[in-house]
Amino acid sequence: MQVHFTLKASVQLSAIISPDFEDIIRKAAEEANNVIFRKGVPSGIDDSEIGRITGITVKENYIEITIESGTYTRVHDALFRFRKYLAQILGKYRVGVRGIEVHSYDITATLDSGVPVPNLSKLPFVKSARNDENKLIISLSLSASDLENKVPDRILRLIEEKAEASQYGGKGEHWDLIFESEQKNRSKKENPTDEMLAKGWIKHGLSRGQWIYGPEAVRLFRAFERLVMEKIIGPLGFTEMIFPKLVPWEVWMKSGHAKGVYPEIYYVSVPKTRDPLFWEEVSDYFKVTGEVPVDLIRDKIDGPIGGLCYAQCPSFWPFLQGETLTNDCLPAKIFDRSGTSHRYESGGIHGIERVDEFHRIEILWLGTPEETVAIAESLHEAYKKVFIEIMELDWRCARVTPWFMAQEGLLGDVKETGTGCCSSIGTTDYEAFLPYNETWLEFQNVSINGDKYPKGFNVKIQSGSECWSGCSGIGLERWTAAFLAQKGLDMAGWPELIKEYAGREKSVFKFC
Ligand code: SER
Ligand code: ZN
Repeated sequence: MQVHFTLKASVQLSAIISPDFEDIIRKAAEEANNVIFRKGVPSGIDDSEIGRITGITVKENYIEITIESGTYTRVHDALFRFRKYLAQILGKYRVGVRGIEVHSYDITATLDSGVPVPNLSKLPFVKSARNDENKLIISLSLSASDLENKVPDRILRLIEEKAEASQYGGKGEHWDLIFESEQKNRSKKENPTDEMLAKGWIKHGLSRGQWIYGPEAVRLFRAFERLVMEKIIGPLGFTEMIFPKLVPWEVWMKSGHAKGVYPEIYYVSVPKTRDPLFWEEVSDYFKVTGEVPVDLIRDKIDGPIGGLCYAQCPSFWPFLQGETLTNDCLPAKIFDRSGTSHRYESGGIHGIERVDEFHRIEILWLGTPEETVAIAESLHEAYKKVFIEIMELDWRCARVTPWFMAQEGLLGDVKETGTGCCSSIGTTDYEAFLPYNETWLEFQNVSINGDKYPKGFNVKIQSGSECWSGCSGIGLERWTAAFLAQKGLDMAGWPELIKEYAGREKSVFKFC
């Protein structure tokens, strides 16, 4: 994508200056074009790509200035560099440089062929956006502080992201097979959700995509939890913590979820006041009609202040925010299994493998890049052993679009830097074969998230080493769905250790 910026602004001076100054200011502009704006620009870059002052007029106590650029020393950077230089020069004559007024800021972006023109008309700061074939012409309405805050760079990044997304659009998510287990008997079996429903192991909750798990289902959840504790979490030395399950915007702003999670979250709002009188009409309405007046409630609440737990690990990071960790406490290995995660899934009827409310053990670790990678690899080995030797599953794993990118609405992949299952930044998904519909179900993942979280939450290591982190989500519904789909509900067909951990079938309720 080619870009051209044009900025028109005026720089206020502390005094009216005489026409003699015009020459000094013109010389300053030349020096800026030839030297100051070229600082930091790699050699060999075409002049038209670099910021340059293309018009300058001195008027009493201000200077009108036009700057154009490509992607190097963009016009707003050039403007601030020039102001600084001007202040040095005019200071000698006791003339001060004051504020900046931005008159216009235009970006012309020439999109690569085949890239659809994004709709930017609803964006803040955009005065107008039109296109002439593949040329996108955007006029921004910005103050000097918006320029200082690099708003134009972010708008440009957004256009680039939209262009990249459209390129990836047709391709969907990245997926590269890295391991496939020995194939088991794949003869057609029942859908385990239907079977569990028929046997009264589970019932629908009254909320969308929600189940009430009866004792028979929960003993399997707990069996898997014990398996994970005894064969993975315990031996590898992870320690339990409790992460919050209501996530305020601030966490998602730092985790990157604020970039794209909106269609899938359960929003959380709070009362405008706790005053019972304020709420009396709501209670009365329900008492008289038997209906909850949702519209009335909507007027009486603030927010949303955030959403319900979605990815589980982001809520941990405020614990370390702004801290420098001693070398000897690393690598740090923790996990959370304290509550539900919620996703507004696509509609329609799904089984327990696709739910709006689910239970997950989230494993998290951090340390130097080497430590982070080593832990991911040992986790992968431990999982592999459990799936093959204990659960006897028919499974495979693949490198996929990293979860943190997918959840930000980005497709594609980070650059692969290693070859192993879990040796470079990115996500490995574990999938189980479902004989009842001959598809594969993602039932857990392992990710190396690089420096994304330590950076987002400003976490450092005493030694000065780069800090990386990783996480791994174990979905209990997904494990149960995968296991029962392959082994059936009859315990006779279950592997020995699962039978032992699950204990005897125990039903509490009998329905007439
Ligand atoms: N946090 C990761 C995810 O949401 C692992 O559970 O996929
Ligand atoms: Zn995570």
